[in-house]
Amino acid sequence: MPPAVNGRQLFVTTALPYANGPFHIGHIMEYIQADIWVRFRRMQGDTVHFVCADDTHGAPIMLKADAEGVTPQALIARIAGTRAKHLDGFHIGFDHWHSTDSPENVELSQDIYRRLRDRVPSLITTRTVEQFFDPVKEMFLPDRYIKGECPKCGAKAQYGDACEVCGAVYAATDLIHPYSTISGATPVRKSSEHFFFRLSDPACVDFLREWTQTPGRLQPEVANKALEWLGQDVAAPASGDKGLADWDISRDAPYFGIPIPDAPGKFFYVWLDAPVGYLASLKAHLAKQGIHFATFLQRPDVEQFHFIGKDIVYFHTLFWPAMLRFAGAPYKVPDNVFVHGFITFSGEKMSKSRGTGVSPEVYLDLGLDPEWLRYYIAAKLNAKVEDLDFNPDDFLTRVNSDLIGKYVNIASRAASFITRQFDGKLSLRPGGTGHCKDREGSTAIAWAASGMIAKAYEAREYGKVLREVMRIADRVNERFDQAKPWELARDPAQRERLQDVCSDALNAFRALTYYLAPVLPHTAVRAAEMFGMPLPLQWADIETQVTHIKAYTHLMTRIEGQQIDALLEGPHAAAQTRAAPAVPEAGSAKTQGDKLAHAVAHAAGTAAKVPATESAAAGAAAEGSAPQITIDDFAKVELRIARIVAAEHVDGADKLLKLTLDIGEARHRTVFAGIKAAYKPETLVGRLTPMVANLAPRKMKFGLSEGMVLAASGDGPGIYLLAPDSGAQPGMRIK
Ligand code: MSP
Ligand code: ZN
Repeated sequence: MPPAVNGRQLFVTTALPYANGPFHIGHIMEYIQADIWVRFRRMQGDTVHFVCADDTHGAPIMLKADAEGVTPQALIARIAGTRAKHLDGFHIGFDHWHSTDSPENVELSQDIYRRLRDRVPSLITTRTVEQFFDPVKEMFLPDRYIKGECPKCGAKAQYGDACEVCGAVYAATDLIHPYSTISGATPVRKSSEHFFFRLSDPACVDFLREWTQTPGRLQPEVANKALEWLGQDVAAPASGDKGLADWDISRDAPYFGIPIPDAPGKFFYVWLDAPVGYLASLKAHLAKQGIHFATFLQRPDVEQFHFIGKDIVYFHTLFWPAMLRFAGAPYKVPDNVFVHGFITFSGEKMSKSRGTGVSPEVYLDLGLDPEWLRYYIAAKLNAKVEDLDFNPDDFLTRVNSDLIGKYVNIASRAASFITRQFDGKLSLRPGGTGHCKDREGSTAIAWAASGMIAKAYEAREYGKVLREVMRIADRVNERFDQAKPWELARDPAQRERLQDVCSDALNAFRALTYYLAPVLPHTAVRAAEMFGMPLPLQWADIETQVTHIKAYTHLMTRIEGQQIDALLEGPHAAAQTRAAPAVPEAGSAKTQGDKLAHAVAHAAGTAAKVPATESAAAGAAAEGSAPQITIDDFAKVELRIARIVAAEHVDGADKLLKLTLDIGEARHRTVFAGIKAAYKPETLVGRLTPMVANLAPRKMKFGLSEGMVLAASGDGPGIYLLAPDSGAQPGMRIK
């Protein structure tokens, strides 16, 4: 982070994801939106504290852990372990990732509660509430864990809030023959004392009306929604039956949550401690930097922003500002809440169970460039609460035609002339087309947009930013074409002009790199290294010319159609598996009675064991064959063509040969294969054979084995290596 001299002091968060599962693409979309904004602000010289955390508490996580036979702590630790891969994978630069199940969060949640209770006694009240209770599980049941017959139409197995058959809305206690979905027991009614946050308190309503309606704060549609919740009528008395309902903030034990001070057996409802998790994460992050939390929050110049989705606006524009406001210093109310819509897939809602959508994990595992997704999402984002549709064809077209065809194209064309003909030197000739002060120059055109682009970034109008960048890229390419550099290159008298034309294009490219840097941070750094741009990239450095470039190296590759197919097949294949179970196709490996055995794994022992283990494991599923997998599962196996460079006997091993394999990498791999019985080493040298290239290396008695070659075997003794058709080259991927 650059030291900020006059920059803003920003505290920025995204919503805290529930810790009951890995990230889905909706989370990643939110993080990309926030990350771009944060990177942009940092390029302006601001100090940004960008933090998030796992939202860990509540009944669903407790019950899920219970069902898995683990503690909630173990469950959330497992999920926490999956976060870094995705965040790093998509270049999401949180400064800190915390947990709401942390000492900081306990301390801050209890502190905020105590302040509310003691400073404004009318805000916290208690009331007796009658609820369904599971007598077997001995816990109060949230509505989603109660089912029964619809009181209106009699449909069976309806949830405790509404009927999916006739649409009736009712209370859980209205269900006929209700049962607990956890234990199956018939729930009983039981009363207990609950704590309430009185959102309807006049002081609270006044504050919220002021906070939500301050012009220029919330997005207009968000401010309107808040006004609707608050009750349109400014003069209406905040009576509780009109306008805001009071908020039930307590849950009874057993509950995985934070104890309410001075109330044994009572815990904060998860939505009370969840947003406090923003502060807990900030506190832990500041502590690492030796910054005092309360002092920092009380700095008058600190601004606090939360990026969230449209489904949690109520919590963030009513409860959360009210909690902070009435808790008082050092807590401060958010300066703004930035609300985005949902990501949909070809117009459909994302659904894990129907297998629609894109799995961020599959995306990364397939090795797709994270910046393609960042670019596509950014190109479709604006400052409105609108849904964003992921359309596979559109994704491919935009990335290939914009990023590769327009932006990267400038550098790859102009740089090659400069490298080949001018030894990497650019011209800085005053008055030439290469000079930035030339108003007609491409560089000048690019520079002129910096103010407008900065404004659009600040306003989260990323679609506008990228349209402008691509408009400039179009003009730069057009001007380059019009100058016909390939003709200039043939005429020695036009040498200076050629250098000017290319220099101008490259200086324009340099400016575009700054404009794209929040969206494409890695590509920008690679371009910066090539062009000698100072790092970290700062907006203030845009209007400087490049003097010299290093040899051009590839900045970004195109998306191929098959990559998109593979990306979409993941979840789709999984959905088909669920819909139409396993009918082996005629001609499939299974019906032919062959099997592609892991015959020649790392160890000789493995080869011998394979048939036995395989039938034992799969026996229950389908005679002798392994259980069905999805294309997803298969995509995890990286199969490549290997050339056998050397093959030798291994002293002391009676089944193994030591193979040296070339798979197109800088160095060769060693694999120990159990094929000694079938092959003489000298007959193998020079052969091509498929190998599993991403098998974890395994240390054996004879050395490290770094993969596995494949061979077929049947019930008899033979082992048969496979061979590709001629034309295949070492390193080719087998898909
Ligand atoms: N744990 C709460 C938030 C607590 S904040 C103090 C929660 N978690 S969530 O995992 O369900 O959602 C986290 C964020 O992802 C929310 O901002 C939510 O709006 C967002 N999204 C969930 N599905 C989404 C899409 N399909 N598209 C875009 N964002 C989506 O709510
Ligand atoms: Zn019904």
